[in-house]
Amino acid sequence: MLGRLNHVAIAVPDLAAASAVYRDTLGARVTEPQALPEHGVTVVFIDVGNTKIELLEPLGEGSPIAAFLAKSPSGGMHHVCYEVDDILAARDHLKASGARVLGDGSPRIGAHGKPVLFLHPKDFQGTLVELEQA
Ligand code: CO
Repeated sequence: MLGRLNHVAIAVPDLAAASAVYRDTLGARVTEPQALPEHGVTVVFIDVGNTKIELLEPLGEGSPIAAFLAKSPSGGMHHVCYEVDDILAARDHLKASGARVLGDGSPRIGAHGKPVLFLHPKDFQGTLVELEQA
């Protein structure tokens, strides 16, 4: 079921400052910021060849990463995203295995225009897991 690592996401308090670190200090190419109001975040991506890094900044009231940044004000690793071939089949398999799917269990369209789901960190070694249909 589990495919390749699509990205590792890092929550940051200041997307412009974090993008500058990746661009100027690390010499990486950073995409333009993309607002995702339905996910409560603004994102940029950094392609590092074998996977991507996603930088997330809160967008709007009640952002799902606001509590994370309250606990880790300088930012930190927020989730890992794995690709799956069939997100509904993956969801059904995971639910049957006792894993908790966040939200109402229906995939939403993520930053790459593809369906995504999030899985409860308590069921995955304390790590928030995103699945994206490749
Ligand atoms: Co993500």
